[in-house]
Amino acid sequence: MSHQPIRRADYLPPDFGIDRVELEFDLEPARTLVRARLAIRRIGASDAALVLDGEDMELLGLALDGNALAADRYRLEPTRLTIPGVPDAFELVIDGAIAPAANTALEGLYISSSVFCTQCEPEGFRRITWFLDRPDVLSVFRTTIRAERARFPILLSNGNLAAARDLGDGRHEAVWDDPFPKPSYLFALVAGDLAVVEDRFTTRSGRDVALKILVEHGKEGRAGYAMDSLKRSMRWDEETYGLEYDLDVFHIVAVSDFNMGAMENKSLNVFNDRFILADPATATDLDYANVEGVVAHEYFHNWTGNRITCRDWFQLSLKEGLTVYRDQEFTADERSRAVKRIQDVRVLRARQFPEDGGPLAHPIRPDSYLEINNFYTATVYEKGAEVIRMLEALLDRDGFRRGMDLYVARHDGEAATCDQFVAAMADANGRDLSHFLRWYGQAGTPRLTLEQSHDAATGTYALTVSQRTPPTPGQPDKLPLHLPVHMGLIGRDGAEIPLRLEGENAPQGTSRVLELTEASQTWRFVGVEAPPVLSINRGFAAPVVVESSESEDDLALRMRADADPFSRWEAAQSFATRLLLAGIAAAAEGRPPPPTDAFVAALAAAFDAVEGDPAFAAELLALPGELYLAEQVAVIDVEAIHAARKALRAAVAQGLVDRLRHVRTGPPRPFAPDAASAGHRALANMALGYLSTIDGPAAAMAQYRAADNMTDRFSALAILSELDVPERTAALADFHDRHAGDALVLNKWLGLQAGSSLPDTLATVRALLDHPAFSYGNPNKIYALVGGFAGNALRFHAADGSGYAFMVDQILRLDPQNPQVASRLLKAFGRWRRFDADRQALMRDAMERIAATPGLSPDCREIVGLSLA
Ligand code: PHE
Ligand code: ZN
Repeated sequence: MSHQPIRRADYLPPDFGIDRVELEFDLEPARTLVRARLAIRRIGASDAALVLDGEDMELLGLALDGNALAADRYRLEPTRLTIPGVPDAFELVIDGAIAPAANTALEGLYISSSVFCTQCEPEGFRRITWFLDRPDVLSVFRTTIRAERARFPILLSNGNLAAARDLGDGRHEAVWDDPFPKPSYLFALVAGDLAVVEDRFTTRSGRDVALKILVEHGKEGRAGYAMDSLKRSMRWDEETYGLEYDLDVFHIVAVSDFNMGAMENKSLNVFNDRFILADPATATDLDYANVEGVVAHEYFHNWTGNRITCRDWFQLSLKEGLTVYRDQEFTADERSRAVKRIQDVRVLRARQFPEDGGPLAHPIRPDSYLEINNFYTATVYEKGAEVIRMLEALLDRDGFRRGMDLYVARHDGEAATCDQFVAAMADANGRDLSHFLRWYGQAGTPRLTLEQSHDAATGTYALTVSQRTPPTPGQPDKLPLHLPVHMGLIGRDGAEIPLRLEGENAPQGTSRVLELTEASQTWRFVGVEAPPVLSINRGFAAPVVVESSESEDDLALRMRADADPFSRWEAAQSFATRLLLAGIAAAAEGRPPPPTDAFVAALAAAFDAVEGDPAFAAELLALPGELYLAEQVAVIDVEAIHAARKALRAAVAQGLVDRLRHVRTGPPRPFAPDAASAGHRALANMALGYLSTIDGPAAAMAQYRAADNMTDRFSALAILSELDVPERTAALADFHDRHAGDALVLNKWLGLQAGSSLPDTLATVRALLDHPAFSYGNPNKIYALVGGFAGNALRFHAADGSGYAFMVDQILRLDPQNPQVASRLLKAFGRWRRFDADRQALMRDAMERIAATPGLSPDCREIVGLSLA
């Protein structure tokens, strides 16, 4: 296999362009024939041979300008086809055969529940035909699909339907034309027997677009929210960025076997069905929000990804960071901006910060890879989105929009780079952003430290901010970054102080974005009568850790009075984290936990101050998670972390008991999936969880039985699943029977049991491997059960190594059939150096067992190599 490291610095433009691609598919599950007719043109050196990528296919014939090529005119190797001595412009016809039914890696053309579908990003097209399978080769595609009509009545590809006809022998044919040049990774084909849910959308310039969502028969009723989300996304992109849809039809196909979340193929998005299907009885509020967010994300790719694509895969964040930022903003506009920001920061801290601080750390624009599939990471996606968000903070909203407009105007129809994106932002605003570009090349989470002083005589407050980024693999020395310091000052009375820097004539508001570019910088504010309380990194404007020794009084003040809602939540998290870290140390040493009264009182006051915003209140009450806490300690002690968190939960429940009970009073509300209704449920279920630490399982069991929607039922079940009581067994059994046959719901059931802190969890997980609800062929099920266990810090890191041994068995079993899924699971071992010596040894042994396995995929080889390095 061609698995040498690929380096960004080695980029060379292609020697050939492929202007036009005509594909013909004769679909049969066991053996599908593919003919590709390619119009190829030389753009590089006159003596360059044509080298096409291709894997796992059978070559049946090759013809150049109509003449069959004899075997001595080309060289066929496992991953490429080389044809020397080709003319400057020619037509190449390639006949090949592939085996979709045997495709378990779910890359290329495969079959999911009797439906043919494709996944080509990043390098799947080379499993369909031989091609220049790289994103900077843009071609116009025409696709002809032939298949048996009875089994495959629906035949889809990118673009518009050009022709359809019956072939007489029980087979039929459809021809699709996509007028927009695109890279091969955006190609898609779907064929099968699916139900179609239809709607329409009229773009602001008057184009009438047919919207079609295709789902399994019988699931039509679960596609309504996805359709509604699609229409709102289309409108939002017009209103926010002036970007309209550009074809007459937009398809979304939901399939049940899919490695990732969804894929933005031009006009033919293919989705993991868990991000399409939602109804009150089967989907939680989180599922609804995910459907909305992923539908929007894939739709937004039509401009940021498809019309403007990436030059090479090192530029992946060009489309992914930007598109995540866009879907985050969409959700913020459609729901609650503060709550969305809190949720995104939680995910960033739980997933990206650990990645950025460990052996798999890489810049948002990586420098090298063995297997690009390994780089669809929280860093490229979520940190990438944070980098875009910083540009918005530095250039402000209007400036950012000007930059987007220029980026689109300059690069529409091209394969672009991150440098070009930042250049458009800079040029549209007359700014020099060369220093900012360091964010693209430097890995690691910067740490800010603060120094403050107040001079009562002159009314001057001085703030010094210093930055330092810890070393990451391959980058021992870090440079200072250019970042926004979004701050405000609060008086002891809780009022915001007008901000006037020394030298300014008048204050400029009460919330400002300062620009940090040096290792250390000082700002002096005048007109500050008394020592203020600093509110810094408002809205989490920069993806950094602020090391602060703020007093408990200041934290309490900001929890209730900070004008920035994100910072109110952040103050509560900081206060809780401080207590939890003390509690973790105490638990590890067998000492009693620290007193919690001050925190509980502050939380009560903060809670009272947000009356009327239940979604925000629920976030305020959610204590920092175990993953986040693990990042804050020198040596991770999973038992102590779990115990400390449990103890603080109990203290909060006791301290806020009246408020929590009050939350649970009031008449029942009819179910609606909107954000406001979801907020009420979030708070009510948060309260139920706390109260169960006092009252036991009765209320949760009652809610489980009476619930009229999945959020309330599943929240109750999740609470019960953490309690070692008979009700737990009864509810889990009932839930299974209620939803037997519904794979998506049963995945929740698998995941809950895999994530349980109860001591027999591993035995349960082992038993569930044989349950009919589980299957190694379906990524969602693997992620739910095996991935759910890997995310269960307490049980995965069991001191006897049983969790590690189990995961190794699972990874080795999966690797030959689906290396992408196996290597994702393998990342669970990445933070091994953060544990005690015994666990380190166990985890290292586990990874060495994987490394020593013959025939290991490049995907897993890369992760294990980086992890052990
Ligand atoms: N490009 C997809 C997205 O983020 C993700 C994806 C990558 C899907 C690779 C499949 C394979 O929207
Ligand atoms: Zn994406």
